[in-house]
Amino acid sequence: MTVRPLGIDPRPPASADLTQRFLSIRHRTAELAARLRPEDTVIQSMPDASPTKWHLAHTTWFFEQFILSRDPGYRSPNPDWHFLFNSYYQSVGPMHARPRRGLLTRPALDEVRDYRCRVDEAIAALIARGDDASLPALIELGVQHEQQHQELLLTDIKHAFAQNPLEPAFAPDAPRSLSMAAPALAFVPFDEGIVEIGHSGDGFAFDNEGPRHRTYRQAGSLANRPVTNAEFLAFVTDGGYRQPALWLADGWALVQAEQWQRPLYWDEALETEFTLQGRHAIDPHAPVCHISYFEADAFARWAGARLPTEVEWETMAAPLPVRGNLQDSGAFKPRASSFESSLGQMYGDVWEWTMSPYVSYPGFRTLAGALGEYNGKFMNGQWILRGGSCATPADHVRATYRNFFPPHARWQFSGIRLGNDR
Ligand code: AVJ
Ligand code: FE
Repeated sequence: MTVRPLGIDPRPPASADLTQRFLSIRHRTAELAARLRPEDTVIQSMPDASPTKWHLAHTTWFFEQFILSRDPGYRSPNPDWHFLFNSYYQSVGPMHARPRRGLLTRPALDEVRDYRCRVDEAIAALIARGDDASLPALIELGVQHEQQHQELLLTDIKHAFAQNPLEPAFAPDAPRSLSMAAPALAFVPFDEGIVEIGHSGDGFAFDNEGPRHRTYRQAGSLANRPVTNAEFLAFVTDGGYRQPALWLADGWALVQAEQWQRPLYWDEALETEFTLQGRHAIDPHAPVCHISYFEADAFARWAGARLPTEVEWETMAAPLPVRGNLQDSGAFKPRASSFESSLGQMYGDVWEWTMSPYVSYPGFRTLAGALGEYNGKFMNGQWILRGGSCATPADHVRATYRNFFPPHARWQFSGIRLGNDR
């Protein structure tokens, strides 16, 4: 990094903390990308995935667009890159088509790295000036956005590597996990009653996590752990992908059209799976991963259960500490876990599909201006996932966090926790 050392000027601790947080999260992204060769960072393996180089540039553009450009005197080092790295903010101008991101051999990776350094310096200088009360909240949004893209970088490079017959490993050096037996499946009951969900008070949250509000929860139960590979294998070998009665109509149409027969990265023999550590034997005790909403829903029906609602998930997760196999563990794949508490692996390993559609909470307001496009405009046709995954930074997820994807998406680190009416 070419960011200058902080130097000798004394500055209030709050500002130094913010600079430190900003630079360390920016650095973490660069660290993830440093595991790749330049050629790896350019390709786009499907319209939903983006090249690593694009993630590196887009997160930088975000700081320019929403922070640096507020100063009318700011001059971007690369004004014509704005069109390339604006993702979806219609109110700040037109953008390059998402499915064509993989065609951008220019700017080159080293030019994008240089862009990152220049923007980092400009942001650090702005923080040091300390004369803008609205800056800390905007920086926080920028780093939380950066962390979302760290996860997307990992899911997208996994998809790209999976297309390569050489099956490169992103993390060949990752710590090998001990093989542990998953605890027996059990359902943890909860009572009927008025409950509260949503963010309020201190600490960062995205706009879609609030307002906190009361809602009614029917009595039911939540599985003590995610569905394992062994359990999902039983669904596959029982002909789960060939029984239309198990599937939602749109899911069954996709099973037919895409010839889905097993989870995304499993081999035909149902013995190995492609991971960010390379190809490995499927661990029967690890949570099943790369499951679409349609597959999660069909599995739950086959198992005589259902998916949890987001109200059930959040109210049960709220008392638990955010601990688990998150990005910081360095495994970059879900792991088996044995644990003593009754509800295990609520955080980390796999995002857990809920049966709740991604819609606004009562009283929801989008942020003012272009940042209002961040989350609110995607509130149709998508489903809520909870809890973070092995690709999510540990300090990024919380009980109120609402991830969302369309029901066909299976390239995310998404899995299943069962719920039940009893
Ligand atoms: C919340 C993961 C669905 O992938 O578009 C990145 C995250 N928002 N930049 C997405 C996001 C803006 C978002 N997801
Ligand atoms: Fe983004």
